[in-house]
Amino acid sequence: MASAHAYALTNHEDHTFMEAIGSELAELMVCQPQNRNRIVNALTILRSAMISHFRQEEAIMKSENYPYLFQHKGSHDYIINYISIFISSFAPGREDAPADIWPALKKTLETHIQKYDDPLILYLGVNP
Ligand SMILES: [Fe+2]
Ligand SMILES: [Fe+2]
Repeated sequence: MASAHAYALTNHEDHTFMEAIGSELAELMVCQPQNRNRIVNALTILRSAMISHFRQEEAIMKSENYPYLFQHKGSHDYIINYISIFISSFAPGREDAPADIWPALKKTLETHIQKYDDPLILYLGVNP
């Protein structure tokens, strides 16, 4: 159960970090929408942070025999795919990058936290 405690402690921290990168991304989209390199860079950092956070969660779910690992991981995979599509929309030659990337991602993350992370924390029986 030590890993569960570690998760509870870092989960909130990780979410806060992702939110901070997201806010920077939102600001870039408004103030420097033409600076595609910086936007792609922020999105790539965000994706890396998500991948590492999701891997950690999945390892804990496995070690704790969490019964909803499959559904929870499916939601993680969906989010990574979602952000990857945003990143590819900034590929050279494409001009149709959406302006509301962070609000859309944020909503998806918030839904994930409520629907999947909160029940996991309850299952682990530890306080965040
Ligand atoms: Fe999480
Ligand atoms: Fe999760």
